[in-house]
Order: sequence, then structure tokens, then C-alpha cells
Amino acid sequence: MSLTRKVQEELLERGYSRRNVARIALGAAAALPFFHEFAFAPHALAQDNPDAPARGRGMRPAYDPDAVVIGSNENPMGPTTQGLEAISKVSPLAWRYGPQGDNNLLQGLVESTEGVKPGYGVVFPGSGPALSNLMPAFTSPTRSWVMGAPGYGQGGGRGIGAKVIKVPLRKDYSHDVEAMIKADPNAGVYYICNPNNPTGTLTPRKDMEYILANKPKDAVLVIDEAYIHFSGRDNMSTDLVAKDKDVIVLRTFSKIYGMAGLRAGIVYAKPEYQAQLAKFDRGGNLSVATMACAAASLKASATVIPERVAVYQKNRALAYDQMAKLGVSYIPTVGNFFMMSVKGMTAAQVGNAMAAKKVHLAGANRWPEWPNHIRVTVGSFDEMTKFNAALAQVVKEGPPSVAKG
Ligand SMILES: Cc1ncc(COP(=O)(O)O)c(C=O)c1O
Repeated sequence: MSLTRKVQEELLERGYSRRNVARIALGAAAALPFFHEFAFAPHALAQDNPDAPARGRGMRPAYDPDAVVIGSNENPMGPTTQGLEAISKVSPLAWRYGPQGDNNLLQGLVESTEGVKPGYGVVFPGSGPALSNLMPAFTSPTRSWVMGAPGYGQGGGRGIGAKVIKVPLRKDYSHDVEAMIKADPNAGVYYICNPNNPTGTLTPRKDMEYILANKPKDAVLVIDEAYIHFSGRDNMSTDLVAKDKDVIVLRTFSKIYGMAGLRAGIVYAKPEYQAQLAKFDRGGNLSVATMACAAASLKASATVIPERVAVYQKNRALAYDQMAKLGVSYIPTVGNFFMMSVKGMTAAQVGNAMAAKKVHLAGANRWPEWPNHIRVTVGSFDEMTKFNAALAQVVKEGPPSVAKG
């Protein structure tokens, strides 16, 4: 689908250049190739793998069964048992183009689990593509995207000509909402990632309310809840959508439900926002397998979420204990990842040293505002045991000695 003439005119009126419009027409997701963790993965692995660039953009180096890859906030528990059963049930019917009711089942659950009206929850092939489309839909060269720093997405909207403003997090790592409003009182979007990626920290409800009370009338508060299930129901914001506030909430099945490769996400928002977003949609259906798995996951969420969170807490504690022993500092997190800092070493040095021991963390270049912190995804018990062993060695060896010359 290309942009209609009317949408192209709307973009020009909002200050985008013809060149920007041409890029947006390619598909915001294509112009902004950064909006899911996999897009970053090659950077993390390329650091120690000279083959990686030659293997093509977006591809990882060949699978190494001994490598511990804990850099993309994936969930090693994988899809739920209920989800896998649902996939095997629908798969024999996958020769049909059309879904056999799984779409309706999923749509119903998307709405009922969050108590929103029909039309308020729209499913996408991942929340990343939806996030990319939010850029042209609600921001422009004059109406900025205001976000926290370090935060998720790194302001890549500049690639389509949108204005992006990054505002440092507060000392407690919540979003500094007063400073966000001050940074641009006329923004198009105030983006709060909650819990924030990469810090794994929360921004409280009163801060969301501050933005809603102080933003321009036509601006939108986007709350990215990719990791919210790890932090507890009390922190969710979908009730604001149900109340028709100027809020868009993003969810994904990639994290708690372990479906990153199956691709499913949800945009919760009132129908007028959904219609604005739909102007930039490039299509891309969910497969029947994905829909069935997602529906089964939502159906089982009341038991699956607490079970999975408990496993995470156990595996995360393993790393916390080791870091405390080794004198490595870290930011306590409510997500499935955490930021750590090894004294006397930069993030790049830690990342390279860990990669040399086959433990791959997030790309050290992703958050330049914090050059000494590196993000670790909480993996399985076995993976965190290997992480602990590698970290002990890295701390012992210290930074690489400077070559004399
Ligand atoms: C904060 C945040 N938002 C959105 C996404 C996109 O997730 P997906 O496209 O897999 O649904 C991610 C992926 O890691 C993320 O960390």
C-alpha cells in the first residue's frame, strides 16, 4: 500500500519535505529500521565477529550452540505451552489464506483482557512496526517526539525528518516529565517507555497525569508497555485508553509471552488515533499460527504471567548476587533486563570482553549518553550461570592494557 494523495498532502502541510514524504511512503518501518531489538542485534554480535557484516543486513552470524546471547531482551522460556498447542491445532488449516476464527478470538481477548471497547485495540505484526508508524502519524519537523534518555528507539525518527528531543531521566531513572514538557511545550508526542528500556525502571501514574494536564491539546502521550507484565498490573495504563484520554498504549507478545519471532503487538487507543495511525500502515497480516498462539497466551495470562515472573526473579537474583560479590554496580530493574557498570571499564570494553567469552550483551554503542553502562537480558538459569562465570573473569582481567607505541 502506498500513501494516498490526501495523506501525502497532509504530511507536506505538517512541514515534511517531498523527500521526507517519499521516505515515509516507502514505509516508516523501512525508513526507521530500529524499532525492535533484533535490528540492533548484529551490532552487538558484530563486535567480535568479523564475518557478521558480510552476512547481510539484519542477519545474525551462524548459530553457535555454545554462545550465550542475552542482548535482545528475548524470553528463553519461549511461547507458552498453551500457545504451542494452539499452533499445532491450527497448522493443518494453514493452507487457507484466511484465518478460521482465530482472528476473532484474538480480537475479542485483546479488548476484554484490558476492558476497552471494540475498536480500541488493534493488532500489528509486532509493536515495533506500530511504533515506527506513530512517528509520521503524530510528529513532524515542527511537532517533536520527546523521549527519555537513555530510552528506546534512540530518536531514529530523524531519518524521516521528524524532530526528536531527548530528555535525561531523573536521578531515580523515572521520566522527567516537567523537563519533557519544558523541552518542547508544542510536541506532537511525549513518549514514555514504562518500564523504560534500557533502565528497567518505572515512571509513576502521577507523571502520566502531569503530561496529560500540561501537553498541547492535540498532542499524544504514548506509553510503551513492552515490559509491563514483568512489573505488575498496577502499573498498566490501558484504563486511560478506556477512559478516552489522549493516550496510546503499546503492548507486545515478544517479551512475557516469548513470541518475538512470531511477531505480534497491540496498539490500544481511541478510534480517531487508530484511524490516523492506519494511514501509514503497510499491511502485513499476522499468520494464523501467530494469532492462535497470541490468543492462547492471553487466555492463559492469569497463570502464565506470575509463573514466568517468578522464574525471571530467580534467574535475575543469580546475577544480582554475583554482581554484588564482584563489586559490579547495577540498576535494580522491574523488566527482564538490567543495566550494569564494571568499575574502570567502558560499556564497549565490557561488551567486547564478555563477547570474547561467548556471552553477547546489548550493543555497547546503543546508549551513548551512558558510555559506562551495558544492558544484560535475563536469560535462563544456565545462561545466567555462564554469564556469572564470564563476568568474574572480565572483572579479574580488567580493561585491556593500552598498547604502547
Ligand atoms: C520498549 C520496546 N518497545 C517496542 C519493542 C518492539 O517489540 P516487537 O516489535 O517485538 O513487538 C521493543 C523490542 O524490544 C521494546 O524494547
